[in-house]
Amino acid sequence: MVTRALIQIFVLFFACSSTSSSSTHLCLSDQTASLLEFKNTLSFNDYCMQFTSPRTNSWNGTADCCSWEGISCDKLTGHIIAIDLSDGCLQGSLHANSTLFQLRQLQQLNFAYNDFNGSIPSPLFNHFVSLTYLNLSSSGFSGLIPHEISLLSSLVSLDLSYSSLTFDATGFDRLSRNLTKLRNLVLEYTDMSGVSVASFSNLSSSMETLSLGTCQLHGEFPSEVLSLPYLKHVELAWNENLTGYLPKTNLSPSLVSLDLYYCRFKGSIPSSFGNLTQITLLDFTQNDFQGEIPDVFENLDKLTILKFGSNNFSGQAPTTVFNLTQVTQIDLSHNRLEGTLPNHVTRLQFLQYLTLSNNLISGGVPVWLFSLPSLITIDLSYNKLTGSIGQFQKPNSVMVIDLSFNDIQGPIPSSLFDLNNLSSLLLSSNNFSGVIESSILSKLENLYDLQLSNNGLVSLSSSNDGVNYSFPQLTRVLFSSCSVRKFPSFFRTSKVEVLDLSNNKISGGISKLEAEGWEGLNMLNLSNKFLTSLEQIPGKYLQILDLHSNLLQGPILSTWFNLPPPNPPYLSLLLISENILTGNIPSLICNWTSLVVLDLSKNNMSGTIPECLGNYSNGLQFINSQVNNFHGKIQILLRIIC
Ligand SMILES: *[C@@H]1O[C@H](CO)[C@@H](O)[C@H](O)[C@H]1NC(C)=O
Ligand SMILES: *[C@@H]1O[C@H](CO)[C@@H](O)[C@H](O)[C@H]1NC(C)=O
Ligand SMILES: *[C@@H]1O[C@H](CO)[C@@H](O)[C@H](O)[C@H]1NC(C)=O
Ligand SMILES: *[C@@H]1O[C@H](CO)[C@@H](O)[C@H](O)[C@H]1NC(C)=O
Ligand SMILES: *[C@@H]1O[C@H](CO)[C@@H](O)[C@H](O)[C@H]1NC(C)=O
Ligand SMILES: *[C@@H]1O[C@H](CO)[C@@H](O)[C@H](O)[C@H]1NC(C)=O
Ligand SMILES: *[C@@H]1O[C@H](CO)[C@@H](O)[C@H](O)[C@H]1NC(C)=O
Ligand SMILES: *[C@@H]1O[C@H](CO)[C@@H](O)[C@H](O)[C@H]1NC(C)=O
Ligand SMILES: *[C@@H]1O[C@H](CO)[C@@H](O)[C@H](O)[C@H]1NC(C)=O
Ligand SMILES: *[C@@H]1O[C@H](CO)[C@@H](O)[C@H](O)[C@H]1NC(C)=O
Ligand SMILES: *[C@@H]1O[C@H](CO)[C@@H](O)[C@H](O)[C@H]1NC(C)=O
Ligand SMILES: *[C@@H]1O[C@H](CO)[C@@H](O)[C@H](O)[C@H]1NC(C)=O
Repeated sequence: MVTRALIQIFVLFFACSSTSSSSTHLCLSDQTASLLEFKNTLSFNDYCMQFTSPRTNSWNGTADCCSWEGISCDKLTGHIIAIDLSDGCLQGSLHANSTLFQLRQLQQLNFAYNDFNGSIPSPLFNHFVSLTYLNLSSSGFSGLIPHEISLLSSLVSLDLSYSSLTFDATGFDRLSRNLTKLRNLVLEYTDMSGVSVASFSNLSSSMETLSLGTCQLHGEFPSEVLSLPYLKHVELAWNENLTGYLPKTNLSPSLVSLDLYYCRFKGSIPSSFGNLTQITLLDFTQNDFQGEIPDVFENLDKLTILKFGSNNFSGQAPTTVFNLTQVTQIDLSHNRLEGTLPNHVTRLQFLQYLTLSNNLISGGVPVWLFSLPSLITIDLSYNKLTGSIGQFQKPNSVMVIDLSFNDIQGPIPSSLFDLNNLSSLLLSSNNFSGVIESSILSKLENLYDLQLSNNGLVSLSSSNDGVNYSFPQLTRVLFSSCSVRKFPSFFRTSKVEVLDLSNNKISGGISKLEAEGWEGLNMLNLSNKFLTSLEQIPGKYLQILDLHSNLLQGPILSTWFNLPPPNPPYLSLLLISENILTGNIPSLICNWTSLVVLDLSKNNMSGTIPECLGNYSNGLQFINSQVNNFHGKIQILLRIIC
C-alpha cells in the first residue's frame, strides 16, 4: 500500500516537473494555444489605447491562462468558461475561422464596447451553444444577426444593443421560441423593422428585462408580455409606430420600470396599476392614451419618475400623486386634465420637477409649491388657474417658475423674490398687477429670464433710493403689453440681450444717458404708441430693432446709433413703420451692410431711393414703401419689396 502510494506521488511529481510548467496550470494547453492565436489576430484601436491598457496584454504563454485578465476557467475541468474583453480597444473583423471558437465550453462572453467591424460570424452561435451570457453591446458588429442565434438555448442574458445589427423575422421568431431560459434581452438600437411583434408573445416566461428602445418596431405589441410574472424592466421608448394596450388586469406585479416614451400605445390605464408596488419609473410621454388616470398612486411608495405628458388623458387629475413620498418628477402636461391642486401637501419631499402645463387645471396656485425642499422646476403654464398667490415662508431652491397663460390675479407676492436660486420667472399672460421695483427684483441674483408680458396692470420702476441695483445674470426681459411708463434704464449695466417693451405706456423719448451701456443688447422692441423722440438707441450690437407704431418725427438720424460708421454693425431687421418720419432714406443706409429687412411703410417720407439699395446682392429683402412718396427706379422697388 505504502509503496503504491509513493509510486503514485512519484509519478505525479515526475509528471509535473518533466513536462513544461504549463502542466501545473489549470488551463488546458490547447485552450491556451487557441487564446494566444486569437490574440495574434487582434488589432487595437490606437486612440483607445491612450486611455486603457487592454486586458489581452497580460496574456502570455508563461502564466496559467486561467489567471489572465478577462479569463475565467471551470475550477474542476480547467475549461475556459468566461471571457470578458469589454472595453478592450479591440478593432477589426472577427473571422469565422478564429481559434476563439474552439473554446466550446464557453458560457459567458462579453465583447461590449469594442470596435469590431463586419458581421457576427455564425460560429459564435453554433460553436458556443453553452452560452448563458452574451454581451455584444456597442461592439461595432453590423449586418444581419445570423439565424443560428436560436441555438443558444441556454442563454439567460443577451445584449446586442448599440451596434448596427439587424434582426429579421425568422431570426427573432426562432430566438423567441427557443431561448426558453432568457431573462434579459437588451436590443436597443437594433433594427427590428422586419420583425413581427407577435413573436414577443413567445418569449420565455422567465423574462425580467426587455429593452427594446429605438428598434423600429411597428404593429401591435402583445399585451400579454406585460403580464409575464417576473418582468421587472420594460423599455420600448422611441418606437414611434408601435401600438399596443396595457393589459386590463394582470400587469406584472414585479414591474420596476415601464418606459413607453414616444410610442403609440392607446386605450386607458387600468386601475390595477395601483398594485405595482415595486414600480419606480413610469414614462408614458407622447402616446395616445386616453380616459381618466385612475387615482391609485397611494401605495406606489417607490415611484420616483411619473411622466404621462402628451397623451389624451381627461377627467380629474389624480390627487394621490401628491401623496407620493419618493417621487422626483411628475409630468402630466399636454393632456386635458381638470381639477385643482391640493391646498395642503406634506410629502413630495424629493420632488424636483412638477410639470402640469397645457391642461385645464383650475383653482388657485397653492403656496406649498414654493416651500417644497427639492423643487427645481414648476411648470403650470397654459391652464385655468385663478386667484392670487399668497405670501409664503421657507422659500425653496426652485430655479424655474412658469405660470404663464393662466388667469392669476393680484400682486406678485414679495416672498417670490426671496427664491434665491430662481433663474426663470415666467408669468406672462395673466392678470397680475402692481409695480415691480428694481430694489425688489435685484434680490433675485440668479435671474436670467423674466417674462411678464400681457399683464396689463404690471409696471416696472426704478427704486427712488439712489442706489444702482445690479442684475448680474438677467438676459431676457419680456414686458410687452404691461403698464410700464418709463424706459427701465436701470437694467443697462447688465447683460440683457433681449428687451421687449412693446405696447406699454412709455411716453416721451429715450435720452442719450438712458441709452448708455447695454453692451449685450441685441433685440429691442420699443413698438409702443407713445415714443416721440430718440436721442440715441440703446445697444451697440443690436440685431433687431422694432420701433413701429410710435410718434417718431423728422428724418432717420445717424445719431440714433452712436457709433462710428459703418453703423450699426449687426443690425439686420429695422422696423419703423407707422411713425411720422419725413425726409428721404439717407444714403448712409447703404453702409449698414447687415441689414436684411427694412420697413419704412406708413410714414411721410419722400425723395429718391438710394441707388445702392438696388445693389444689395447678399441682403436687403424688403423695403415696404406703402404710403410714402418715393420715386426711383421702379424695377428696383419691385425687386426689393417682395
Ligand atoms: C506573463 O504575464 C505575467 C502576468 O500575467 C507576467 O508576470 C509575466 O512577466 C509575463 N511574461 C512575459 C514573458 O511577458
Ligand atoms: C475592418 O477593419 C480592418 C482593420 O481595421 C480593415 O482592414 C477592414 O477594411 C475593415 N473592414 C470593413 C468591412 O470595414
Ligand atoms: C481566416 O479567414 C479570413 C477571412 O476569410 C482570411 O483572410 C484568413 O486568412 C483566414 N485565416 C486562417 C488562419 O485561415
Ligand atoms: C433550439 O435549441 C435546440 C438546443 O436546445 C436545438 O437543438 C434546436 O435546433 C434549436 N432550434 C432552433 C429553431 O434553433
Ligand atoms: C454589457 O456590458 C456593458 C459593459 O460592460 C454593460 O454596461 C451592460 O450592462 C452589459 N449588459 C448586460 C445585459 O449585462
Ligand atoms: C408563438 O406565438 C404565437 C402567437 O402568439 C402562437 O400562436 C404560437 O403558439 C406560439 N408558439 C410557441 C412555440 O409558443
Ligand atoms: C413610422 O411610420 C412612418 C409611416 O409609415 C414611416 O415614415 C416612419 O419611417 C416609421 N418610423 C419608424 C421609426 O419606423
Ligand atoms: C391588486 O392585487 C390584489 C391581490 O393581489 C387583487 O386582489 C386585486 O384585484 C388587484 N387589484 C386590481 C385593481 O387589479
Ligand atoms: C381625445 O379624446 C377625445 C375623447 O375623450 C376624442 O374625442 C379625441 O378624438 C381624442 N383625441 C385624440 C388625438 O386621440
Ligand atoms: C394624503 O394622505 C393623507 C393621509 O395619509 C390624506 O389625509 C390626504 O388627503 C392625502 N392627500 C392627497 C392629496 O391625496
Ligand atoms: C442654490 O444653488 C446652489 C448651486 O447653484 C446651491 O448650492 C444652493 O444650495 C441652492 N440654494 C438653495 C436654497 O437650495
Ligand atoms: C459708406 O461706404 C462707402 C463705400 O463703401 C464709403 O466710401 C463711405 O465713406 C461710407 N460712408 C460712411 C458714412 O461711412
